[in-house]
Amino acid sequence: MSGGYLLALDQGTSSSRSIVFSRDGRLVAQAQQEFTQHYPQPGWVEHDLEEIWQTQLATARQALQQAGLQAQDIAAIGITNQRETTCLWDRRSGQPLHRALVWQDRRTEPLCQQLRAEGLAERLRERTGLVIDPYFSATKLAWLLEQVPGARAAAERGELAFGTVDSWLLWRLTGGRVHATDASNAARTLLFDIERDAWDDTLLERLQLPTALLPAVHPSAHPFGHTDAALFGVPIPITGIAGDQQAALFGQACFRPGLAKNTYGTGCFLLLATGSERRHSQHGLLATRAAQADATPQFALEGSVFIGGAVVQWLRDGLGLIRSSSEVQALAASVPDSGGVCFVPAFAGLGAPYWDADARGAIVGLTRGSSAAHIARAALESIALQSTVLLQAMNADAQRSGTAALQELRVDGGAAVNDLLMQFQADLLGIPVLRPQVVETTAFGAAGLAGLGADLYSGLDELASLWRVDRRFEPQGSRAQAAEHLARWEQAVRQARTR
Ligand code: G3P
Repeated sequence: MSGGYLLALDQGTSSSRSIVFSRDGRLVAQAQQEFTQHYPQPGWVEHDLEEIWQTQLATARQALQQAGLQAQDIAAIGITNQRETTCLWDRRSGQPLHRALVWQDRRTEPLCQQLRAEGLAERLRERTGLVIDPYFSATKLAWLLEQVPGARAAAERGELAFGTVDSWLLWRLTGGRVHATDASNAARTLLFDIERDAWDDTLLERLQLPTALLPAVHPSAHPFGHTDAALFGVPIPITGIAGDQQAALFGQACFRPGLAKNTYGTGCFLLLATGSERRHSQHGLLATRAAQADATPQFALEGSVFIGGAVVQWLRDGLGLIRSSSEVQALAASVPDSGGVCFVPAFAGLGAPYWDADARGAIVGLTRGSSAAHIARAALESIALQSTVLLQAMNADAQRSGTAALQELRVDGGAAVNDLLMQFQADLLGIPVLRPQVVETTAFGAAGLAGLGADLYSGLDELASLWRVDRRFEPQGSRAQAAEHLARWEQAVRQARTR
């Protein structure tokens, strides 16, 4: 007999985490382990797939133990994961052929340049919703097949499996029985036609990627398989999978078109649910598949800020202005405003809607009276300013398609606990910012999908009733003030941009 608990496996870029939720959405126990980041060359980022698997398995066992639960108490497992990160393994031995190439890895930029020069951008944007960029999996898979001796021949013989991290974990959890993924992860590979709901031949052919490598694609709530009995004592059903940003959108109960969430992590990921309709952005946003609870495909628009919370780390490690990240709020709050200082943290270029890879950071508007507090405040403000620009792009797209502008923004992620930042975000946007009681929305989303897939929940309405607001930040200040601030920001961005 299954119990009423759900286990979410949240495999992120810097750590593997496992969280147990009760049926009513309460967080019961959690465990976390960091793992090694490998930087073999500048711009290259790799993860050891064996270490990912071992840390994930260990945290799952720890979380169960902390919760005082047995495997039979878990109704289902949901997996959520860092997206795009590219894994390649041998189907027979189950061994990885190489370390995973992480989403942040830029080594395939020359190949991307070549693909852009061949004029493939428009066709790929139409089919996959994405831009040609090393961020996505396709060119990373091509690199692995070219560089690992014997890989291409083995792939052609059908001996290898490709997948994002969810697929890798699913494979290991099921004892090598299931090679599958969900549509929200498939949509991040540059190989998936998001409207046809099928793998797309454009890059498969151009990069000579054998289709035998590809996982089966299912809805996010789906009976993917069972864990091998040896892992937890009894088999546990795995009934939910979604990429972490789509899982967060789901965990924020953004089930209706027009609802959006922003996750404030190292970067920020803003996703707007567009329902069963795919929207085309005229403002540099990506179209992607959202988590899918049944047979109907769901879509979202996505924009990302490359340097979000990471700007606070830079204040700490680069400038030495603060000793720990938590000090930033007090320092920033010690002045009433940024004193005209504007900080554009384009350390790694600028993403949507600017897409300027060569832009670099700038701090402008300094005077003799500028202090560390003004810079700290401007740094915090930059997180909200960049997110506002993304939201404006989403609203502009909405206006074009005759749909309503955003009414509220749901927030999560590490920096969402910063009240000063959230208030500033609401002031800039001119709409309420809602922080939920359960801020572990990514894991909650995976658990919710698993619960749906295991028929533990009756449907989306029941899940939506579990999402509760902890604090609502109402916009303060005038719209003219917000507009003036945004104009100053745009002026500073112009100085940071190269095109
Ligand atoms: O697209 C990359 C994103 O999925 C990574 O998320 O939370 O692991 O940094 P995170």
